[in-house]
Amino acid sequence: MSKIVMVYLSNTGNTEEMSNQVQKGIEEAGGEVDVFAASDADVEKVYEYDTIVLGCPACGTEELDEEYMEPLMQALEEKGLEEKKIALFGSYDWGGGEYMDTWRTRVEDVKGTLVAEPVIVEGEPDEVVDQCIALGKACV
Ligand SMILES: Cc1cc2nc3c(=O)[nH]c(=O)nc-3n(C[C@H](O)[C@H](O)[C@H](O)COP(=O)(O)O)c2cc1C
Repeated sequence: MSKIVMVYLSNTGNTEEMSNQVQKGIEEAGGEVDVFAASDADVEKVYEYDTIVLGCPACGTEELDEEYMEPLMQALEEKGLEEKKIALFGSYDWGGGEYMDTWRTRVEDVKGTLVAEPVIVEGEPDEVVDQCIALGKACV
C-alpha cells in the first residue's frame, strides 16, 4: 500500500475540518496517513511519501500561505512530482477558488498526478464533507 502524508494549514479551522474528513476517507478505505501541520512539515520527509495530500486556504491575494505552504510547494516543485500522487483541498472566501486553479496547474506543471479533482469550499466545509471523504478514499 502506498505511503500517504497529509500537510495542511488552517488559520480559522475550515481547512483543518476538511483535513479531518479527508483523513476519515483514507482510513475508511483501509489506508493510513501521517498528518502534519504545515508549520511542522519537513520537505525531505514529505518527499519520502508516494501520495502527498496538501490542504491550504486562499491567502494573500489568491495565494498559498506565504510562511509555510508556499515554501513547501516551491521545494516540491524543485524536486518534481513525476512519481507522486497528489491531492489538494482548501477553503476560500471571496475569490471563488481561483487560487486552487493556480495551485493545481503548478502541480501538473511538475508532472504530479492528481488523485481526484481538488476539493474547495467557500467558508465552512459542511457542504463538501462527502467530497473530502471521497478525496481521501481516492488517495488509497
Ligand atoms: C489575510 C487573508 C487573506 C485572504 N485572501 C483570500 C483570497 O485571496 N481569496 C479568497 O477567496 N479568500 C481569502 N481569504 C479568506 C480565507 O481563505 C477564508 O476565510 C478561508 O475559509 C479560511 O480558511 P481556514 O479556516 O482554513 O483558515 C483570506 C483571508 C485572510 C485572513
